[in-house]
Amino acid sequence: MEVIIKSDKAEASKLGAKIIARLIRQNNKAVLGLATGSTPLQLYKQLVRMHQEEGLSFKDVTTFNLDEYVGLESDNPCSFYSEMHNNLFCHIDMAKGATHLPDGMAENIPDSCAAYEAAIAAAGGIDLQLLGIGHDGHLAFNEPGSSLASRTRLKTLSQKTIKANSRFFGSEDKVPRHVMTMGLSTIMAARQCILLAFGMDKAEAVRDMIEGPVSASCPGSILQFHERTIVLLDPEAASKLRRKQYYLDVYASKPAWQLWD
Ligand code: GLP
Repeated sequence: MEVIIKSDKAEASKLGAKIIARLIRQNNKAVLGLATGSTPLQLYKQLVRMHQEEGLSFKDVTTFNLDEYVGLESDNPCSFYSEMHNNLFCHIDMAKGATHLPDGMAENIPDSCAAYEAAIAAAGGIDLQLLGIGHDGHLAFNEPGSSLASRTRLKTLSQKTIKANSRFFGSEDKVPRHVMTMGLSTIMAARQCILLAFGMDKAEAVRDMIEGPVSASCPGSILQFHERTIVLLDPEAASKLRRKQYYLDVYASKPAWQLWD
């Protein structure tokens, strides 16, 4: 893992957006894996800005989102479909049909999950997967205890995640109990991952993910086995890392050709 600690969330988000923009400029048919939650919002704002001001085009890009709630119509304001539409897709020039999310209204969930995996494969696999992390170390909706070999499937949310996500729904009992999520193995198959984490309340999960043992108890820790993962942090999220100074030293002494910004 490449651990980059920037001066704040805004700088980390800018760098994440730059890395994505660089990929799209190298490969206009890039396949992106996208995430929801509050963490990637500033990065999405940057991508929108680059589209409006710098001519960054998404017209040949394909996207696959990590997860979706089961039982919410796509036009429900709390669905991840709505979240992605409002925060990114409606502001950029993505082609119709090029954005994909698991279908939380599918009648046959296992078939729909298998079809999602097949669609990712048919698109040539994910070039770059954007990720956040839950307070308990979950990736997408792969709660602690998820199989490290998992693929897209139905999951039941933990009480902790229901509580954390109730801020979008107004109350805990309105949060759907079931979700469809890419599995940890689906995420690991992406050719590159960028994980963003900000704030003191993510510091423990970040420490366990980067420096803890690889374990289903901290699903994010599987990224220690990923060949090309960049973790972009603010100082608060990085505050519990034992090797924090080393990560700062590595970034400060990088040869110019290795720098991302
Ligand atoms: C949700 C999402 C994850 C996200 C996590 C953290 O459970 N399924 O993809 O990383 O929450 O969310 P936030 O970025 O709002 O802290």
